[in-house]
Amino acid sequence: MAQNTGFDVLIIGSGAAGLSLALQLPTHFSCAVLSKGDLASGSTSWAQGGMAAVLHDRDSIDAHVADTLRAGAALCHEPAVRFTVSQSRSVVDWLVAQGVDFDRRDDLPDPEFREFHLTMEGGHSHRRILHAADRTGRAIAEVLSERAKTAANLTLLTNYCAVDLIQQGGRCVGAYVLNTERQQVEAMSARAVVLATGGASKAYLYTSNPDGASGDGIAIAWRAGCRVANLEFNQFHPTCLYHPQAKSFLVTEALRGEGAHLILPDGERFMQRFDERGELAPRDVVARAIDSEMKRLGLECVYLDIRHRSRDFIRQHFPPVYHRCFELDIDITQQPIPVVPAAHYTCGGVVVDQHGASDVPGLYVIGETACTGLHGANRMASNSLLECFVYAASAARHIAATCPAPTVSLPPWDDSQVRTSDEDVVIKHNWQALRRLMWDYVGIVRTDRRLQYARDAVALMLDEIDDYYSRFTITRPLLELRNLGLVASLMIECALQRRESRGLHYNRDHPDTLGHARNTLLRPSASNHDLSDTDDELPSYQNPS
Ligand code: FAD
Ligand code: SIN
Repeated sequence: MAQNTGFDVLIIGSGAAGLSLALQLPTHFSCAVLSKGDLASGSTSWAQGGMAAVLHDRDSIDAHVADTLRAGAALCHEPAVRFTVSQSRSVVDWLVAQGVDFDRRDDLPDPEFREFHLTMEGGHSHRRILHAADRTGRAIAEVLSERAKTAANLTLLTNYCAVDLIQQGGRCVGAYVLNTERQQVEAMSARAVVLATGGASKAYLYTSNPDGASGDGIAIAWRAGCRVANLEFNQFHPTCLYHPQAKSFLVTEALRGEGAHLILPDGERFMQRFDERGELAPRDVVARAIDSEMKRLGLECVYLDIRHRSRDFIRQHFPPVYHRCFELDIDITQQPIPVVPAAHYTCGGVVVDQHGASDVPGLYVIGETACTGLHGANRMASNSLLECFVYAASAARHIAATCPAPTVSLPPWDDSQVRTSDEDVVIKHNWQALRRLMWDYVGIVRTDRRLQYARDAVALMLDEIDDYYSRFTITRPLLELRNLGLVASLMIECALQRRESRGLHYNRDHPDTLGHARNTLLRPSASNHDLSDTDDELPSYQNPS
């Protein structure tokens, strides 16, 4: 590939958001889709439970909206919630047309007209989770990847890591990207650039996320001048497998949806003591209850028990969970599953409008990288895949309608002042130290003192990382550390600014929830690491045409 390459649209990220946007652009648009690993390296392929959609006769858009608002602890942007939920059926139609084979009820006679099998998850008042056993993400990712590979207008570039955006006259006109196989930086121009790089849960030591969830898109957009919002709300999934060999393995909430109980080592159920909805209370409530029981009793984990369902049912509905546990000598049909909470989802992100358009003209941000306002202070289970598809479709329509003429040529990447590093230990050390610090000081339960300590410690790390970045040739680990450090500092800043407890953010020094729910919005000032407050309004919405 030449040093300077041009496309109509440059999409950074090949998860649910990036690929579905690429597939919905007009076919005369040339488009590059970048992934820093292989096409399936994001969280999408790991999604288990499914995607929320209003499909059942007794369900309604109003009920889904109300559940989402309740889970979001009064901080959701209601227009964004209604916009998203009202398009769930058309998203399902599109996915089925692409070839995604969601599970259908097997108690109905005609295979062709069978209804979808819908499961239940925390916070939902109806069965509305569409799924493909507990491998929903993989089923979706495989279909979208296959479609993308055969689309003539799409160029799929794996092992390309975006570094930063290029702007001319205030407009985003491309990006510098590192080809990690050749260790070469290329300048790619585009009429529109889309960040679909997933979340930042890798900021925490224990996480359900793949290694690449280092918040790259949030950091890149911030450096380009975009506002970010609500980054204090990192969701901790209540049930990740607790086992020395089970790095990042989620035990889907759908198990609780199908009746699994959370128990202590002596078999006592405890969730009813915390919330009348028991195991199906929203995730913030369940994660905090587990955290509190673990601390109270000095436990390393609690247990999830589905033994009362039949072996056939468990194996049919939860094959990866069953097999992964079995590999680790846990037969979940006979034994309870050891579980702990782990960082799972970044509810905040880059502020965007209903088209996924950011503050910088020409730059769109979709999927977990964005803050649309849908999730408020706590994402309801299975709403995020839906959000990826809704905003990808909306951004595709907007880009098709408003994309300007091709841009001029771009300045090449200048690496004349840097040399190859001989001290990679700086990256490894800071990577581990940062994630441990975030887990210990910015975790499920916070205090002002711990947050202030974390702010100072991360500032020191950022100085060291910036110095290293200015002196040495870039690599993917360096880029990820630089981004993760920046996003961690933004998370801490948001957490310090919130003087209350709400949803996923619980601060012992401010345990009450204030009467008026405000977003935490941060705007980069001229020197990129500095912050300035803005008002707390997210963008207004027009009726979708
Ligand atoms: P991702 O799928 O994470 O994709 C990010 C892409 O960006 C990847 O291709 C990556 O390589 C690329 N990328 C990142 N940085 C760069 C860079 N600098 N340069 C180039 N490329 C880059 N949600 C639900 O709704 N239902 C579920 O059942 C569910 N289960 C989940 C289970 C697990 C274990 C996890 C981790 C998440 C789950 N979620 C679920 C959340 C959901 O999967 C994610 O929010 C969603 O898939 C994010 O999609 P995305 O397209 O925004 O990003
Ligand atoms: C799960 O399957 O428990 C994850 C669902 C989600 O994160 O939405």
